[in-house]
Amino acid sequence: MDSIWTKTCTIPKRTSLQKDIKTEVAVIGAGMAGILIAYQLQKAGKQVIVLEANRIASGQTRNTTAKITSQHDLKYASLIQTFGIQKAQQYAAANEMAIAEYQRIIEEEGISCHFEQTSAYLYSADKSKLIQEAEAAASLGISAHFINHAKTPIGTISAIQFEHQAQFHPLEFLKNLSEQLEIYEMTPVQTVEDHTLKTPCATITAEHIVFATHYPFINFPGMYFVRMHQERSYVLALENIPPMNGMFIGDGNNKLSFRFYDKYLLLGGGSHRTGDNRYGGKYEVLREKAKELFPDAKEVAHWSAQDCIPADGIPYIGKYSEQKPFWYVATGFQKWGMTSSMVSAMIIKDLIYGKENPYAEVFDPQRFSMEAAEGIAYEMKEATKTLAKRFFKLPETTEKELPVGHGGIVEVDGEKIGVYKEKNGTVHMVDIRCPHLGCQLEWNPDEKSWDCPCHGSRFDFRGHIINNPAQNDITLK
Ligand code: FES
Repeated sequence: MDSIWTKTCTIPKRTSLQKDIKTEVAVIGAGMAGILIAYQLQKAGKQVIVLEANRIASGQTRNTTAKITSQHDLKYASLIQTFGIQKAQQYAAANEMAIAEYQRIIEEEGISCHFEQTSAYLYSADKSKLIQEAEAAASLGISAHFINHAKTPIGTISAIQFEHQAQFHPLEFLKNLSEQLEIYEMTPVQTVEDHTLKTPCATITAEHIVFATHYPFINFPGMYFVRMHQERSYVLALENIPPMNGMFIGDGNNKLSFRFYDKYLLLGGGSHRTGDNRYGGKYEVLREKAKELFPDAKEVAHWSAQDCIPADGIPYIGKYSEQKPFWYVATGFQKWGMTSSMVSAMIIKDLIYGKENPYAEVFDPQRFSMEAAEGIAYEMKEATKTLAKRFFKLPETTEKELPVGHGGIVEVDGEKIGVYKEKNGTVHMVDIRCPHLGCQLEWNPDEKSWDCPCHGSRFDFRGHIINNPAQNDITLK
């Protein structure tokens, strides 16, 4: 399913790396974070190469709604309460600085990418929550205020307005920056040991290595797999809707998000933990909502996104682990990948240059807090539950009973197997053991994929890998 971005912008292909190479910095991953990190480092004078397993921006960057905003749901009141005013200030200032940095780069490079300044609104029926959040954000230096009667796509309701935010076309932006960089596509990094990276056809030696791979694929050191899970969400691009200024997001469990791009409204929602596919039909729910709010709307595209959710609600940006001081990581962006990518570029550039960064402390991957401890305990419980399910829960159906056009886990000769039956009768059978750490995969009827509830790896019905941290396909049966 192509997003509106991939339908409207093509980035030229690059060749894969075929020979050994030495460099000052190797960045793994050519999404928004990887490209921005490489760009900032190269501008500052470093020799940089970027290694991409697939194509430039082929991961989550092409699926974003591309809001460049420091408005991150209800964030700032709880940040102050949990981390204290100083760290909350760092978080707020870093994200505000990220917005300004996008504008600076776009102007300096003369990039035409539908960039526009606008406001971001968080709406809710709970006025007291909004007032508290608006006061918290304003106390941290963000230009934000409460509005009692705000006009939003769902009608008139209370909201917080964050001023001087922005939106753009992420691929038009990346296309320009990537032209300036040495990037190798279809070059998966298979192993990393100290300063050496190995790909199928080459060995790379780098003084510094940056993991900008959405979810870090090296389990030890770092252990990011106990500190994050992944969530999926869904987007419809709709036309035939009167335009409205601003970007909007609701509060609560079934929140919706809205932003316009050109003549299209991007309606997002349906968020859930990856692998938790008990409630399928997410696109249908969004379509129903679109019909209710905009009866004349016509759908022109739909797609889904996957986000890493850190245990304490703050991205991990900085040194990968104390044991590898020349490795860096940028992950856990939640739903706010655009500003978090730029924050990563600013912090990691300074770290590599040995320069103090005023915002680095709050994002430090080596941080520890009670909030993080609770999140880690929860993640471990979820992973143990899913692992146990593989051994102790019996399949609910047999291969014969599984209807055509459906997928599910069945028992074949005493073994649990994942089966998908295509409408034309072709049957695909896979091992339901996730190659990352062995959890049981679950069938996703919306995307026709096998998804892992533990850390969010995904595979198509033929077993080919779609999302990391797993690095390999699943075995066919
Ligand atoms: Fe970690 Fe599947 S993603 S076990």
